[in-house]
Amino acid sequence: MSQEILNNVRKNLFEIKPYSPGKPISDVKREFGLTDVTKLASNENPLGPSKKAQAAILDAVANVNRYPDGGAVSLKEALSAKSGIPAGQILVGNGSDDLIKLTSETFLHPGDEIVVPSPSFSQYWFGAQLMDAKTVAVPLKSDFEYDLEAMLNAVTDKTKILYLCSPNNPTGTYIREADLQAFLDRVPSRVLVILDEAYNEYVTEGDYAQGIDFLKRGYNVLVMRTFSKMYALAGLRLGYMFGRPEVLDAINRTREPFNVNMLAQVGAVAALDDEEHVEASRTLNRAGYEQLQGGLGALGYETVPTQGNFLIFDTRQDDKELFDALLREGVITRSGTALGIPGYLRVSIGLQEENERFLTAFEKVVSTLAQKV
Ligand SMILES: Cc1ncc(COP(=O)(O)O)c(C=O)c1O
Repeated sequence: MSQEILNNVRKNLFEIKPYSPGKPISDVKREFGLTDVTKLASNENPLGPSKKAQAAILDAVANVNRYPDGGAVSLKEALSAKSGIPAGQILVGNGSDDLIKLTSETFLHPGDEIVVPSPSFSQYWFGAQLMDAKTVAVPLKSDFEYDLEAMLNAVTDKTKILYLCSPNNPTGTYIREADLQAFLDRVPSRVLVILDEAYNEYVTEGDYAQGIDFLKRGYNVLVMRTFSKMYALAGLRLGYMFGRPEVLDAINRTREPFNVNMLAQVGAVAALDDEEHVEASRTLNRAGYEQLQGGLGALGYETVPTQGNFLIFDTRQDDKELFDALLREGVITRSGTALGIPGYLRVSIGLQEENERFLTAFEKVVSTLAQKV
């Protein structure tokens, strides 16, 4: 009986591997009997949310008996004021994850293709698989820079969406303005180019390609951002997208009426208004990067230059073993194998004392593992 029902499940769903998130602190405490665990695994903002956002959220809690504003009018107005993009060209989602899913549902038919960089964020693949479309993964170059020429060459008649992630998760590398310009001038106009800029606010390099500049110049790009990283609201789930009105109108048809909750909406408006928190987060991130880069450098490991709030480096050994050993020390990182870069570790940049704890634990586990050999 239940087999008969299962026979009706769309076959492509069986190919979907569940997303493997950074290990939660509570799991690691339980598994290893630890009381103090440091998580540097999900590229979260270690400063915590802005005080202004916290106050706005607490203020709104008394109203959660009401439905949220399905049109997110105040939030879109605030995003519009900040970006210079009209509110009609903004769509919000329950995290960027939601927006990736909605966009996939809107444009992908069975047998279509998407082109993605590799390694990159796994949810692009999820969206394609959900719609029974094929993911064509184009490797980054050996220094983890984009191979935009190869991405262009990967476009076929079946390509409907092409994703660019800049700064790219998990490598931290980014796309330069001139390179994106040349790329967009050559990509066929029937292909929807999505620029995932989840880490946009952390960028310090002046030649970084800002997706919204291209949108303003008339290019048909979708620019995706999130409140989960710099704005420190990952737990509330809120992503947004800038795009051409007709493209967003199509995507909007797949959206649930109340896909962004009330607390996320008010928290985000207040967070956007807290420049000091953003500035403090950016400064902390650059200092943390230098600390990790310096500390790992002193141990003989070279980090890949990053524009995000995380970094990767070649451990020159089994990263899964290192990852497990670090867990036992109470430090959660991400194993490169799980991210498509075997041998590497990805470490989110934390508070000064969290970075220090990682460096100390890393030095210890590397020498313990070396003694075992
Ligand atoms: C590149 C990239 N895009 C999107 C997301 C998802 O963001 P959200 O929390 O808004 O769903 C992440 C989260 O790690 C990410 O790294």
